[in-house]
Amino acid sequence: MNVKGIWIALYVDGTFYVIDNTCPHAGGPLGEGKLAEGIVECPWHGWRFNIRTGERVGNNAITVACCPVRIEGDQVQIALPPSLT
Ligand code: FES
Repeated sequence: MNVKGIWIALYVDGTFYVIDNTCPHAGGPLGEGKLAEGIVECPWHGWRFNIRTGERVGNNAITVACCPVRIEGDQVQIALPPSLT
C-alpha cells in the first residue's frame, strides 16, 4: 500500500498493524509475505519480522519501522514515523 509515496505493509491480525514494506535485507516486499502468529516472512529470502515491534526474529538489532495505527470510525489512520518520511 502506498501512503503519500511511501510503501507500507498493512496487516490485520486481531487489529491493524503497519510496518515499512521494504525488507532491510535486500528490499523484498514484506506486505506480500506470509503472516502467522504476528510474524511476517519476507517472500524473497525468508527473513522474519514481528509486526508488533518490527524486530527481526533471531536478531533484534535489525528492525523495520512500525507505524502507530488509530481507528477513527470507519477509517484506519496511520502515523508515518520520521524514518519513513
Ligand atoms: S529481501 Fe527480505 S529476506 Fe531478503
